[in-house]
Amino acid sequence: MEILSEVSRTLGEYLLLPNETTEKCVPERVDLTTALVRHRVGETSSLRVATPLLSAIMEAVSSPRLAIALAQYGGLAFVHQNQPIEAQVEDVAAVKRHKAGFRPASVAVKPTATLDEVTRLVRESGAEHVAVTEDGTVGGRLLGLIGPGDFHRDRHAGVDPVTTRMRGVEDVVTAPVGVSLGDANALLWDRRADVLAVVDGDVLESLVLRSDYDTHKRFRSESIDGRKRLRVAAGINTRDHRERVPALVGAGADLLCIDSSDGYTVYQARVLEDVRSAYGNGVYVGAGNVVDGRGFDYLADARAAFVKVGIGGGSICTTRQQKGIGRGQASALLDVARARDAYAERTGEYVPLVCDGGVLEDSHMAIALAMGADAIMLGRYFARTTESPTRRVRVGGQDYKEYWGEGSMRARNTARYEHHEDGEAVAFAEGVDGLVPYAGSLYDAVAMTSAKIRATMVSCGSTSLAAFRESARMVVVSEQSFRQTGAEVMVRPSADAIG
Ligand code: IMP
Repeated sequence: MEILSEVSRTLGEYLLLPNETTEKCVPERVDLTTALVRHRVGETSSLRVATPLLSAIMEAVSSPRLAIALAQYGGLAFVHQNQPIEAQVEDVAAVKRHKAGFRPASVAVKPTATLDEVTRLVRESGAEHVAVTEDGTVGGRLLGLIGPGDFHRDRHAGVDPVTTRMRGVEDVVTAPVGVSLGDANALLWDRRADVLAVVDGDVLESLVLRSDYDTHKRFRSESIDGRKRLRVAAGINTRDHRERVPALVGAGADLLCIDSSDGYTVYQARVLEDVRSAYGNGVYVGAGNVVDGRGFDYLADARAAFVKVGIGGGSICTTRQQKGIGRGQASALLDVARARDAYAERTGEYVPLVCDGGVLEDSHMAIALAMGADAIMLGRYFARTTESPTRRVRVGGQDYKEYWGEGSMRARNTARYEHHEDGEAVAFAEGVDGLVPYAGSLYDAVAMTSAKIRATMVSCGSTSLAAFRESARMVVVSEQSFRQTGAEVMVRPSADAIG
């Protein structure tokens, strides 16, 4: 038995001290580019992204829609593996098929659906337009389009059928599949339309929105592959990797990661070995999760492309309660980062670290990067956004999004959480099923987070993540000073509430 002398600490227990900020150290010059796969020290990693944010390998988080949005902003999403191989392959293919400016058709109703149903669908899905099709499926014959701008609850009864307010297909500007974005936009402007339907015969394929006209200018640092397609990553498991990996690689997945709560296992080492003997260095597989240097060394020796750090910190996680396993995220990161640096010194190979679980605050992301993480994997953070795949619901006047753990009874992700007793699977949950406050668009959230991380780095006098890590100075905060972290005055009510 061994008891480590160090207390288990989390990210919120630390603060950064400022370093000198020079005139050259301004937010516009801060480069957040980060390496995601192992490489020789001093060389450039062959997979890098401009924004060090990754979405969690979770059903409630990483849909194709979220993956597209995140890659546009320079991050990377991991499509979840708790689904049949064909379904996961289709998710990857949907991201790879994405063409800038074209929004794939995603929601449809039958002509008999009511206006209230459209309101609910738009609210839950975040889509601007709903297709009205003969059979109510996205692939059915297109009859028209309807969106919230086509009716108002003061003027139109919610029980009226959509046919009373939809724009019939004859009034919608259409173009055939294959139309270029330039031509589609020209048509939109010529016809003074707000939406153009791209159709394959009488089936809707995608929509081009006038309101998207300016958005591509926001994406200066998209994560794209050699064929200019958006990048997407995918989770795999230790049970069916022999079938799943080739299917995902065939679909164009850029990076894979073994999805498990505990990565310090012979099963992960075997998957890494199998993939390596099948593909050599041609397919990148990350592994995890670990919380100490020993776990890191084990996976680094097994040739993991990156190592994911964190056990028990996830916002939906009950692993620490259920199994008594885990470690504060700061202690885990510091220990693993020390091992990573020693490994680089010893072998000449740099293995990136991904900080995973329990991170929501932008300041905690900055602290994790300063402690040695190369990227941050986020579940709750992304689940809260419009682009996540779950329903948006209203409770007590506030909007929430559904969010559940992969170890919850709802997800039943048995490949991630295996508890076997005499060959029988034992069912106990390591996660919960809940709601998180709705936080609007991913684009706005990521823009704000990146701006704050840049501001932190400027205060610490660094314009690159490597320099930030190198020069960071941190202190542990006492409980008393922790209490002073937030504002201590009453938050000012809105102007009309003040007498
Ligand atoms: P969050 O960002 O705090 O919401 O944490 C997300 C991370 O929690 C994921 O990337 C997983 O590593 C982990 N996780 C996902 N589902 C579960 C679960 O059901 N139990 C424990 N951990 C989970």
